[in-house]
Amino acid sequence: MSYQVLAVLALCGGIFCANSFAGEAKKTVNKSVELAIIPKPANQQMGQGSFSLSNKTRLFASDTATLSNASLLNDRLQQTLGFRLPVLARSPDKSDSNYLQLKTEAPAANLKNQDETYTLAINPRSIALTGSITGQFYGMQTLLQMLPVKAGALTHLRTVNITDSPRFSWRGMHLDVGRHMVSVEFIKKFLDQMAFYKMNTFHWHLTEDQGWRIEIKTYPKLTEVGGWRKESTLKRHVEPYIGDGKPYGGFYTQEQIKEVVSYAAARHTTVVPEIELPGHAQAALAAYPELACTPGPFEVATNWGIFDDIYCPSEATFHFLENVLTEVMALFPGQYLHIGGDEVPKTRWKNSALAQDVMRREGLKNEEELQSWFIRRIEKFINSKGKRLIGWDEILEGGLAPNATVMSWRGEDGGIAAARQGHDVIMSPTSHCYFDAGQGPKEQESWELSGELGIEKVYAYNPIPAILNSEEQRHIKGLQANIWTEYLSKPEMIEYMTFPRLLAMSEVAWTAQQGKEYASFTKRLGAHYPRLQQAGLAYRIPRPTGLPEQINATDKTHTLSLDSPVAGSKMYYTLDGTVPNTSSARYLRPLVVKVKPGQDRLLQVLTVSPDGRHSAIQRSIIRASGAVQK
Ligand code: ACM
Repeated sequence: MSYQVLAVLALCGGIFCANSFAGEAKKTVNKSVELAIIPKPANQQMGQGSFSLSNKTRLFASDTATLSNASLLNDRLQQTLGFRLPVLARSPDKSDSNYLQLKTEAPAANLKNQDETYTLAINPRSIALTGSITGQFYGMQTLLQMLPVKAGALTHLRTVNITDSPRFSWRGMHLDVGRHMVSVEFIKKFLDQMAFYKMNTFHWHLTEDQGWRIEIKTYPKLTEVGGWRKESTLKRHVEPYIGDGKPYGGFYTQEQIKEVVSYAAARHTTVVPEIELPGHAQAALAAYPELACTPGPFEVATNWGIFDDIYCPSEATFHFLENVLTEVMALFPGQYLHIGGDEVPKTRWKNSALAQDVMRREGLKNEEELQSWFIRRIEKFINSKGKRLIGWDEILEGGLAPNATVMSWRGEDGGIAAARQGHDVIMSPTSHCYFDAGQGPKEQESWELSGELGIEKVYAYNPIPAILNSEEQRHIKGLQANIWTEYLSKPEMIEYMTFPRLLAMSEVAWTAQQGKEYASFTKRLGAHYPRLQQAGLAYRIPRPTGLPEQINATDKTHTLSLDSPVAGSKMYYTLDGTVPNTSSARYLRPLVVKVKPGQDRLLQVLTVSPDGRHSAIQRSIIRASGAVQK
């Protein structure tokens, strides 16, 4: 992308120029121009001319349910354009013009995930946004993405007809608040972004060995004791362990939980709480040691890892869990309750007379079957309250509970096995969905828990395994990205790991497989960096284009043409092995690097975004290939 184009893109405020200037500058437009909408809509047909949006444009919302959408839309217009539209609680008539109408209509019956379907028809006279209340909400996000990033009194919106519906009904983002918690304000900001990119399920990982984060009124010690650890692991000193000596903790009150749930609901997002059982329970055992198989005492874990102390399968444990889950279910109106089920060492059960007695009594052959029995019993309780159980794929071990949904994280095998048994599945394999992995080579990233997961790989994911037949494939209800926070102690670290990968995930979750194309996505993504910046997100600044990790030069000089996908960024570089900073040479024109056989050149680049944030240092090794003569 040239600097000229970058400047124009910035002017366009995040939509391709043909969109916003069509009405103003040229009347002839290229119908093939793609709107910079993420996730990409199912169908879009560009028209001629444009609609003029200003504070004179009226907003028609004829039924009361639609009025809530009108009010949300106006809040966003106020933020983006600096004005609200006058709302009229009726339908427009023939004499009306220059209006935006929210129309509640049942979507066409042949579409998948109908309730989330919408049509957005923009013509020079009016904008009609049609769908269920949820469908309209998603159409509003599409419309908002067509607006410029910078406020303007008058905006020309390109005429277009969009019909859109999602590929999957579960489009999830998970957040672990056990290892490190975040404020309610942060969660709201996270939910805003999820909704803007049409993600609809927030999986809130609320209990862990290192902290119990949800107030349970029947058991106050869960948060009084279980919510606090005496220290955390210092940096990466897991083994041998070194602590940082700083107490850490906190929890969400039930009032705060209700606030988050209702904020999410207004954004058509379901919150799925996770209460880990029977493992990852050390914080609960620190509070109530009588629920363990050994006497304790236990402390809230300070190190990261998997711990042997789990709930014992006693009647006291079930009594406790049923009371806890009853309070939890009252707070979360969604149909699902996540019970964890992952990473459960069986050591304590093997050595416990009580656990062994239960196995004999119930005719269970091994501890895996005991875990399965444990989860079935919890499922029966949850189902009796009208809710559905979901768990990580370990819940397959020893036999799946009859109605359980499986979240497949250790690859896809668990999901495949569950779908073959007729169970619903959410795909979330570490290979493509774990956003705690780094987004580039390890030495250039700071906060990864394990592995590398670049945005291109996220984008490439197809959650439907070809090995399943079509009936089995129907059980794959969607996918989810997970954020584990061992090494994410500050909110901006979570933002860095989430953005821009969330945008790739949203397109995998929403857009049909045949509609996906990485080149198109990256082009549209370029228009979203200013939006992420405007939202105040510490997104990861991507590697410049034209900077491969290794170059085999075939000539005595090698020329690099660099560009940053973030419009308006500045790039600084060094070739002498020092770490670049803003006093280093600024990249302004293609760089000619001299190469000599046997001498690698190290090019290091720092990108500074328009809001002044620094990228990780990106490196390239330029190596003379055999073809280069001395
Ligand atoms: C998990 O990552 N332990 C589900």
